[in-house]
Amino acid sequence: MKIRVLVTGANGQLGKTIREISYDFLGLIEFVFVEKSKLDITKKESVKHFFETNNFDYCINCAAYTNVDLAESETKVAMDVNANAVKHLAVNCKQNNVVLIHISTDYVFDGKNTNPYLENDQTNPINVYGESKLLGEEYIKANLNNHFIIRTSWLYSKFNKNFVKTIFEKIKNNQSLKIITSQKSTPTSCLDLSEFIMFLITNKVKSFGTYHFSAQGEATWYDLGLQIAKHFDNSSNIKPIEMYESIANRPLYSVLSNDKAIALTNKKPPSWKVSVNQILCDLSQ
Ligand SMILES: NC(=O)c1ccc[n+]([C@@H]2O[C@H](COP(=O)([O-])OP(=O)(O)OC[C@H]3O[C@@H](n4cnc5c(N)ncnc54)[C@H](OP(=O)(O)O)[C@@H]3O)[C@@H](O)[C@H]2O)c1
Repeated sequence: MKIRVLVTGANGQLGKTIREISYDFLGLIEFVFVEKSKLDITKKESVKHFFETNNFDYCINCAAYTNVDLAESETKVAMDVNANAVKHLAVNCKQNNVVLIHISTDYVFDGKNTNPYLENDQTNPINVYGESKLLGEEYIKANLNNHFIIRTSWLYSKFNKNFVKTIFEKIKNNQSLKIITSQKSTPTSCLDLSEFIMFLITNKVKSFGTYHFSAQGEATWYDLGLQIAKHFDNSSNIKPIEMYESIANRPLYSVLSNDKAIALTNKKPPSWKVSVNQILCDLSQ
């Protein structure tokens, strides 16, 4: 029998990436992709009915409220999607014997570390988005044993709007840019993250819990901009700036340690530069 996998938030960049690679697994896995218009995860009755009338083995929750600045004013929506709805997903997973694979963020940390964050390091979010994602994690832990919480950082893909695509377009169009040097984390390709998720499913991993997964290495947004500019042999239009005014606070250092994920898979994720170059090639085609 095929493994049945529900993917929520399927129109997001991670959801679209999983859909793209899903074709490689069709002999083994039956995927059901649902975007917000088909399944709004905040609608309790619809979610309950959806779980009861399907027979899923896994739910990959790619649905989230991800606008970090807007979350400061739209706090209720952010909490509803990232925390309350996630609790309800966990309860439904428990009742229907479904493993929940939930994606969380480096923004659960305050950024005061100077070494990569481990899974059990103290959390202390400094913006509403981070608070809402942390509450989602806590609800899962309280309601469901069979879960994977995967914290990742600075996601990009060839889909939707993200930093890599925006900078790619600007450099391509010869626009000059100022990019900040004050924040450091790891740009992570949705493709690499999707492969880690598929590893958990195809190997039926039972070591449930929280995992950090990002590319290897660390970078500032400016470093990432420079890497994109290199692709065009054009770094003269990029200037570093220390900071810019933003609505939400962001952690200055939120690099995640991949050690636990590496021990599980026996494989290091690619360096961030290798994966960024791969997307740049895709975007150039
Ligand atoms: N992007 C990053 O840099 C980053 C970094 C670390 C962790 N993460 C986490 O990684 C996961 C995937 O992020 P992403 O970049 O793929 O986000 P994304 O592109 O913003 O996708 C999120 C998707 O969730 C959908 N959604 C919002 N509210 C929903 C609801 N009530 N019911 C169902 N779907 C809903 C959105 O639909 P609409 O667009 O129609 O609202 C969107 O399609 C998220 O959990 C995010 O917190 C992201």
